[in-house]
Amino acid sequence: MSGGTVVAGAIYADDGRLLLAQRAYPPELAGLWELPGGKVEPGETLDQALVRELCEELNVDVRVGVRLEASVRLKPGLDMVAVRARIVAGIPDTTEHLDLRWVDADMLNAMDLRGEIVPNDRAWIPELLADLRE
Ligand code: CDP
Repeated sequence: MSGGTVVAGAIYADDGRLLLAQRAYPPELAGLWELPGGKVEPGETLDQALVRELCEELNVDVRVGVRLEASVRLKPGLDMVAVRARIVAGIPDTTEHLDLRWVDADMLNAMDLRGEIVPNDRAWIPELLADLRE
């Protein structure tokens, strides 16, 4: 099945920084940084899928907040959205990613300029920078 939605989390810490996760695969994306997330499964809401994915990938419990406005067409029938979230329990840990990093606006902007952000996720950079500069 190719249709559906991918949901990614814009996770903010209490100090305002944003969590980025470094992809391990596929080879063309390995080493680049993304908002962690995954596919919404049949019968799940967006929020439920994000909570499940972030528990599986990072070992944290999150409280889901407001969606980012930009959405990304990954391919026909598969769109990706991002939702703001906060960690309510656990410390993020890598299970599927190479590394994790908390960034502020200047760090995110510099990583974007260096081409270190997963191309699909660049659609969210303006909104993420606005959040980080609040
Ligand atoms: O693990 P699962 O199959 O649920 O999800 P995934 O493989 O992590 O992501 C599904 C698709 O969304 C892949 O094509 C990823 O490259 C893409 N994706 C993305 O472009 N940016 C993200 N922040 C998360 C996923």
